[in-house]
Amino acid sequence: MMEYNTLDDMNVEGKTVLLRVDFNMPLDKKTFEILDVTRMKRVVPTLHELHDKKAKTVILAHQGRKGSWDFTDLSNHAKTLSSILQKNVTFVDDIHGQKARDAITAMRPGEYLMLDNVRKIPYETDKKSAEEHAKTPFIKDLSSVADVFINDAFAAAHRKQCSLIGFTVTLPSCAGRLMEKEITTLSKIVENPEKPSVFLFGGAKFSDMIITIERLFEHQTADKILLTGLPANAFLKAKGVNLGPANEKALLDEGSEEQFTQIKQLLDKYPDQVYLPSDFAIEENNQRKEINIDDLPVDKPLFDIGQKTIEGYENLLSSAKTIFLSGPCGVFENPIFMKGTKELFTYITTLDAFTIVGGGHTVAAVKKLNLDQKMSHISTGGGSLEKFMMGEKLPVIEALKEAKKKYVVTR
Ligand code: 3PG
Ligand code: MG
Repeated sequence: MMEYNTLDDMNVEGKTVLLRVDFNMPLDKKTFEILDVTRMKRVVPTLHELHDKKAKTVILAHQGRKGSWDFTDLSNHAKTLSSILQKNVTFVDDIHGQKARDAITAMRPGEYLMLDNVRKIPYETDKKSAEEHAKTPFIKDLSSVADVFINDAFAAAHRKQCSLIGFTVTLPSCAGRLMEKEITTLSKIVENPEKPSVFLFGGAKFSDMIITIERLFEHQTADKILLTGLPANAFLKAKGVNLGPANEKALLDEGSEEQFTQIKQLLDKYPDQVYLPSDFAIEENNQRKEINIDDLPVDKPLFDIGQKTIEGYENLLSSAKTIFLSGPCGVFENPIFMKGTKELFTYITTLDAFTIVGGGHTVAAVKKLNLDQKMSHISTGGGSLEKFMMGEKLPVIEALKEAKKKYVVTR
């Protein structure tokens, strides 16, 4: 038994459904065209099902944040979704006013309608309880013209925001198919991963990774963690390796002395479970040059892991039954520094392991390498995925569980 309702528990035929999705996508800075429609495509199964079951589907979504350049209206999102679905998606430039409500009440079974960017509502991003959010005009107005609330916004599941949890108080609520798949798949990895479970972390940030790694070991979600990219540099520095001024500066820009002390403590606590690179690639005369850890410090940025590290990591990954990937191994946008990412990611797809990929840049790398179809699960989450993997409770999922207690299944 699921702790929350799914679409299997809801009778949506002829019903007006409020569907909260995460269509927060990367846009082109000049043209505002959507650069990657993955998040949209991943909601298609839910959207098709609602159409086939003759629901009237009202889509609620956000894009950007107030004050950010990518904080746009959703007219282009509606157009793009329409071409993905090959069905009309009507855009209404209102959210809960009379215009929106009139458009909703005029809908016919099987139709789609998209309301405007919910973050235009001043209190949308308030961090409040579902009950408090439910008292707002936004939730009250739309609840008065809807029958069911469906949340498919896994990528925003870590936010306690109005449209994400408020409707679970006022309407029978359930998870959409994407939300269900993300929770089911990721729960297995967190609670009962097939062992050994190996995590490969890279990318250009390390601050949040310290606590993530601690939790992954504490909960025995991960047996081994292999580091590349900036996290690897941070851990090497914490161990006392002098990386050279360029690399040290990049680390100090993001992290504090205190964090390096925390990393040192983490390494002392789990000495055999965190692995660090033993060689690297730098740029010399526009060429890739590999250097050994003994060659450090260098006055050049470390742009990739080297051949020895690739082989060592392949060896460590070879027996894994669960593999989690987050963060490219180097500056993969540059062909000469794509090697580490390309070789390790490709190698992983040849193994008999359950492979999970998360995070925008990692997913982009996997797609660029044409490996997306070869991974077991690609999560749409960034921040939400990270929190989920750490074993934290996510407000959106908790709200759906609460809603299940209240709503007695009628079908
Ligand atoms: C995301 O892309 O991180 C989610 O859509 C949540 O958006 P936010 O980080 O702006 O709250
Ligand atoms: Mg975010």
